[in-house]
Amino acid sequence: MNQKLKDAVTKIESITALKPTIAIILGSGLDGITDKMTHLAMISFTDIPHFIKPTTEGHQGAFYFGKLEGKSLLVMKGRYHYYEGYPLKDVTFPISVMAALGIKTLIISNACGAVNQKFNAGEMMIITDHLNLTGTNPLIGPNDQSIGPRFPDASEIYSKRLIEKSNIFAKKLKIRLNQGVYAWWSGPTYETPAEIRMIRTIGADAVGMSTVPEALVASHAGIEILGIACLTNMATGILPQKLTHEEVLVAAKKISIDFGKLVYQLILSI
Ligand code: HPA
Repeated sequence: MNQKLKDAVTKIESITALKPTIAIILGSGLDGITDKMTHLAMISFTDIPHFIKPTTEGHQGAFYFGKLEGKSLLVMKGRYHYYEGYPLKDVTFPISVMAALGIKTLIISNACGAVNQKFNAGEMMIITDHLNLTGTNPLIGPNDQSIGPRFPDASEIYSKRLIEKSNIFAKKLKIRLNQGVYAWWSGPTYETPAEIRMIRTIGADAVGMSTVPEALVASHAGIEILGIACLTNMATGILPQKLTHEEVLVAAKKISIDFGKLVYQLILSI
């Protein structure tokens, strides 16, 4: 383990004795699951060595360790984004720390725009695959062979096993669950109508500014991943209205109820 990871892990282990194997990243407005947890230990990003100070409104930036129905869990509230200007290695450092802590399963959530016109704002989409439209990758640079291979396989970044489980639980809970491809857009500008037409044409069903770098790093470290995209809005140009971050946060809050129910069932079953 490299020194930066060691520093972060040592600090975390000095605060909590819990050793979760499941982690979840909560996107904008999707918090709530921590209310159901016991034995909570909150560690702010600012208190973990080598974590950067987050800037995005609606992202608190902390690791929450706790138990959900007796199951140890690491909840990451808030995240770093590429558009904040940080190197991708810093954006994804929390994921590298998760791997170093022994996380084996990671649920990554986000707020994003629906590109597929069969979907509706307010629904969720399980990510079956992704398109990286940024031309960059957090794994560029020297490879740590002790974490994963130089040229990682990407044929099943999003676990078929967990996708199947999600569909079963969504049916039981009577929650409409879409499936599709998530495109990673650097942001911070939302897409233009022409960009959305392009993104649809090349095969994406949803678009957002996160998740993919985290999934690439987690997958490299051998972590099983489930991606849950919360469709807070129809992508640009589909409806005759402008898009604001405030509207995205309000919509995410509404989706968070169904999201919480689904995630709760999933965590208990993993
Ligand atoms: N595009 C990109 N990112 C987003 C969107 C969107 O429409 N909605 C929420 N995050």
